[in-house]
This record gives sequence, C-alpha cells and structure tokens, in this order.
Amino acid sequence: MKTYLVTGGAGFIGSNFIHYLYEKYGDGIRVINVDKLTYAGNPENLKGVENKEGYTFVKADICDRQTIDEFFAKNDIDAVVHFAAESHVDRSIVNPEVFVQTNVLGTATMLNAARKAWEKEDGTYPEGKKFLHVSTDEVYGSLPDDDNAFFYETTPYAPHSPYSASKAGSDLLVKAYMDTYGFPANITNCSNNYGPFQFPEKVIPLMINNALEGKKLPVYGDGMNIRDWLYVRDHCKAIDLVIEKGRLFETYNIGGHNEKRNLEMIRIIIATLREMLPDDDPRKERISEDLITFVADRKGHDRRYAIAPDKIHKELGWVPETRFEEGIRETIRWYFDNSEWLEHATSGEYQKYYEKMYDKR
Ligand code: NAD
Ligand code: TYD
Repeated sequence: MKTYLVTGGAGFIGSNFIHYLYEKYGDGIRVINVDKLTYAGNPENLKGVENKEGYTFVKADICDRQTIDEFFAKNDIDAVVHFAAESHVDRSIVNPEVFVQTNVLGTATMLNAARKAWEKEDGTYPEGKKFLHVSTDEVYGSLPDDDNAFFYETTPYAPHSPYSASKAGSDLLVKAYMDTYGFPANITNCSNNYGPFQFPEKVIPLMINNALEGKKLPVYGDGMNIRDWLYVRDHCKAIDLVIEKGRLFETYNIGGHNEKRNLEMIRIIIATLREMLPDDDPRKERISEDLITFVADRKGHDRRYAIAPDKIHKELGWVPETRFEEGIRETIRWYFDNSEWLEHATSGEYQKYYEKMYDKR
C-alpha cells in the first residue's frame, strides 16, 4: 500500500489533490497530511476524507525539524508531495520574511528529513521513493506582453516578487539535493490554478465573492496583465502522473495554454455569474461591468506568464481537459453550493486583510 506524505494538504491545491487521490485509488492508499493550518489551511476542505481508514492529519509546521524528523522515523513514506508554502504575492510584498521561512527553510527541513530517512549506507535510495516539489511558473519571471515566448523547463530563473524568489530558492535547493546526493525528486512548475476550495485572496474567488456581494471588483493597474489559467483538477492529474511516471531528477512545466488578460477573465466571470443566477435572485441585478474599478498597481507586477507544457505532454501524455469557460462554471457552481465555506473563509481575519490591502488602494 503506497503511503503519501502531503504537506499543505489543507490548502487549495493540496486538498484538491487528496480528494483526487481517493477518487483515483479508492481505499488502497495511505495519506498523511501535514499542515500548520495557517490562515490558508482549512480543515473543512477535507470533509469526506477525514474518516477514511488510511487518512491521518498531523498539525505541524514544516520548519519544525524535530517533529518532521521524528515523523519520518516513525512512518515509511513512499512519496512526499510538497505543497506547503506561503502562496500569495500581495502578502509577500507586505511581509516577505515568512515566505523565506516557510518556503525556503521549510523545504530544506523536508528535504533533510526525507534524505535521512531514505538514504541507504551506500548513498543510494530504495526503488519507488520520490519527493515531488510543487512549484510555480512565477520563478521564471515575466514574459513580454505580446510575443510568442513561453516558459520552458530550460528558461533561466528570474523571479521578481518575494513569493517567487522564495519559491525559486526552494526549487534550487531541491535541484542541489538531486545533484549532490542523487536524491530522488521531481519539480513541477505550474501556471495559475483556479477551482474549488481556493481562498478568496486570489483573484478568481475574490472577484466571484465581491460580485456576489455587489462590491467593487478591484483591477490592478491597467488590467492587461496576462495569466495562464489551469483548472486545479488538471494540475492534480499532472502531479499524480509525475509521481507515477516522471523520470527522476526532471522538472516538468504544467500549463494549459489558456492565457487571458485580467480584464477579459473578470468579464467572463461577470457574464457567467449573470447567466447562472436565476432571474429572481436579487444579486443578479447588481452584477455588471460597472463594478470593475481600477486600483493602484501591484508593486513589481509581472506582466505575462505562459507555460509551454510540451515536455509533460510528450513524455507523460498529459493534456489539460477542462476549458476555461467550463472550469469557471464549475468553480462558480462550487462557490454557489458552498456559501457556508465562503462565509467562514471571509469572516474574521479575512475582513482585516481586505481592509488593509484594498482600502487605500
Ligand atoms: P494555499 O496557500 O492555499 O495553501 C498552503 C497550505 O500550506 C495551507 O494549508 C497552509 O496551512 C499550509 N502551510 C503554510 N505554511 C506552513 C508551514 N510552515 N507548515 C505546514 N503547513 C504550512 O496554497 P496553494 O494555492 O494550494 O498552493 C500550494 C502549492 O502550489 C504552493 O507551494 C504554491 O507555491 C504552488 N502553486 C500554486 C499555484 C496557484 O495558482 N495557487 C500555482 C502553481 C504552484
Ligand atoms: P493572483 O490571483 O494574486 O495570482 P498571481 O499574482 O500569483 O498570478 O493574481 C492574478 C492576477 O490578478 C495578477 O495579475 C494580479 C491581478 N489581481 C487584480 O487585478 N486584483 C486583485 O484583487 C487581485 C488579488 C489580483
């Protein structure tokens, strides 16, 4: 029975991944979810999974060396799937240090613990062990606005935000472990995700939530920045494929060639919300493009991200299955059906965050 150690499994992508694993493999797996439950970690994301026999939740900080070491000593882990991170660019601009702490030092702690547990006396590793480091396309920096350039696995790193710099640092540590110790790992660099369970600080759920509340839709700068959107389930499928079939020591870029300017993406959300809300829903009338409000730009705002997924397509046969128009409908449907989740996520701490980030913008 394969044992997965998932870090950050109470966050957006990590929780989707755990649901995906159980859907695909049924009860034939063990999953240990190690999460500190920061503001971004929500145990509600794991409803339906908590009672599975092979599932264990451990509340721990990945920077806590002793706990993580003890944990590896006690459990025979086959695959580490490392999601845990501080993940929001705007927060990294306000408070960079926690990004270095969690993303760089936390990754170092995880790598060290896995190496100690797995490395044999002759310096080799048992068959079947793998550390999958989940990273972002933001490590490659920003592409020019309107040309055909894409991020490839060979594109040099050029991060701009404290978030992407800390993720780049963590990627380089993983590469160093592979080169120095022959440590069995893969790195995946993925484009922007969207879908169920995404915390409403990120642009898509923030726009959905604000529109439903009739609040302004804050567009940074000129709204012409480009992001390459991938439905989270397609990302989960890719991660599973890389764990099962990815060649050790390789990096795989994941993205669906689904580039949209922010304004275009927001207009699609507005139109889809209007189409999906019943005529007698009082929120429908309030939702229009008049809510779009241009606000001060993000500092160091990357203009364009765009992934070339040729390698994962050719080597592993991965293709994104969800078109943006379809994925956004599923996402909106999920937020409609889970209004309680949204209420919980946006109460308390979130209100303070929103005031701090947007009131003076
Ligand atoms: P998220 O912010 O929703 O979740 C992060 C999770 O990590 C939370 O559950 C949080 O409690 C946990 N965590 C944070 N610090 C921790 C610590 N010190 N110890 C243990 N747990 C801790 O993030 P996400 O959007 O799900 O992203 C997951 C990973 O995927 C990140 O590594 C991110 O860089 C990467 N990624 C995200 C995207 C995206 O669009 N969201 C795209 C590409 C890559
Ligand atoms: P975000 O979801 O924070 O992801 P990332 O910065 O990691 O790509 O933002 C996506 C894009 O949306 C980015 O260009 C910034 C922009 N944005 C807004 O225009 N308004 C907002 O309120 C937010 C949160 C983001």
